[in-house]
Amino acid sequence: MIQSDAPANLTRRGFLGMPILLSGVTRPSDTLQGRAALRGITYGGAVAYAHLQDRDYRAAVLREMKMLVPENELKWESLRPSPTTYDFTKADALIRFARVHGKHIRGHCLTWHHQFPRWYTSVVHAGNASHILTDHIATVVRRYAGQMHSWDVVNEQVETWEANVDGIRVTPWLTLLGYGYMDLAFRTAHAADPQALLVYNDYALELNADWHAARRQRVVRLLQDFKSQGTPVHALGIQSHLTPDGVFDPAIFTNFLNHVAALGYTIIISEMDVVDKTFPADIARRDAMVADVYRRFWTAALAHPAVKVALTWGLTDKYTWLNTVRMAHRADGLSVRGLPLDDQYHKKPAYEVLLNAFATAPMKK
Ligand code: XIL
Repeated sequence: MIQSDAPANLTRRGFLGMPILLSGVTRPSDTLQGRAALRGITYGGAVAYAHLQDRDYRAAVLREMKMLVPENELKWESLRPSPTTYDFTKADALIRFARVHGKHIRGHCLTWHHQFPRWYTSVVHAGNASHILTDHIATVVRRYAGQMHSWDVVNEQVETWEANVDGIRVTPWLTLLGYGYMDLAFRTAHAADPQALLVYNDYALELNADWHAARRQRVVRLLQDFKSQGTPVHALGIQSHLTPDGVFDPAIFTNFLNHVAALGYTIIISEMDVVDKTFPADIARRDAMVADVYRRFWTAALAHPAVKVALTWGLTDKYTWLNTVRMAHRADGLSVRGLPLDDQYHKKPAYEVLLNAFATAPMKK
């Protein structure tokens, strides 16, 4: 069970019942969510059910984030113990926690090529795939209908390097149902919750490496297809796990955002963090370099009128997923420092930079 807590910004009733701020307590405008809100931007990120048992984590999430994204709890692996059953225990608890505390919730993700339940490959075949897919999407999306800001309906379907057909990744759903599975997934989600913003979410779209450029082009083509087919897709989620595979060029990135926005899509920066594996071991130097990536990236992203939601994949280095992925591991074995708070919940330079990027962003309409 997640214990519910008093909000971090504790107030006490003072003279004539007026709330007085307790000394040492953060003012809302000094938090990431508060500073973002002043510019019409929603800040938040991935949150894990298990970590909410940690009081400090819970307090930091409540203080800093306005939008919560269940990190794993809504994936097939978590929701589907068997082909005919659903287990919503953790997802429900996390979503209840978000609602009780007035947070927006983003659903992640309805289709992906990772984190399938173990039974998937032995049970799903071309004859039943369409039924299994639509039953899952309708059941899950309907359960939280009216409560979700948005849903990642299709995650990471573009692939220009490894196994792909015309830049589309060869995934189980693609193999079983063909390219049209995406249209089916979006239509099913839209019917189940007409209010939710439906998102195509993908990674490696941010840098000026060749493979990012190829992926950007393919994503734009995919978004054009959705538009011409009338597929109900409303937003592009740009994950923004910033790796050292290229440099970030604001002009190139802005140009991409312009293309996407010109097609009528809104844009969510959906999973930002920094892979610091090539940065020095020295903490001060490393944190300054991570902060610099934050500064360049967020200044460009937040300047764009179509970017109104800004999310990091976690909040504290204590729980970053990057410590569990081989591609992010440092040769010196030190842990990754790619998020705004360190593993003791101290604000890092990246935090201050993000706060400032919100403060200086143009006002969103
Ligand atoms: C990651 C989670 O953070 C990990 O806990 C899990 O083990 C693997 O998945 N892109 C996505 C997210 O769309 O779902 C991934 O989340 C990170 C990369």
